Amino acid sequence: MEKAKVAASQPVSVELDEGREYWWCACGRSQTQPFCDGSHQGTGINPLGFKADKSGEAWLCMCKQTKTPPYCDGSHASLEE
Ligand code: FES
Repeated sequence: MEKAKVAASQPVSVELDEGREYWWCACGRSQTQPFCDGSHQGTGINPLGFKADKSGEAWLCMCKQTKTPPYCDGSHASLEE
């Protein structure tokens, strides 16, 4: 399995709709961050499907190192340069 790429070193704010299913890009290669566009093919990494439990703003992980995917847990702060 390849390693996840750091898509960005900051999380991104998105508006989610309650009950809707989303696919968060776990591999870091998607051109439609923070969501999967199929670019993970061949990496052995799969996107994470999740349902928004409430409507509104959410901060999704872009560094792909979070321990609480798809949400940012602050891991980007300890990325190596
Ligand atoms: S493009 Fe990254 S998980 Fe699908």
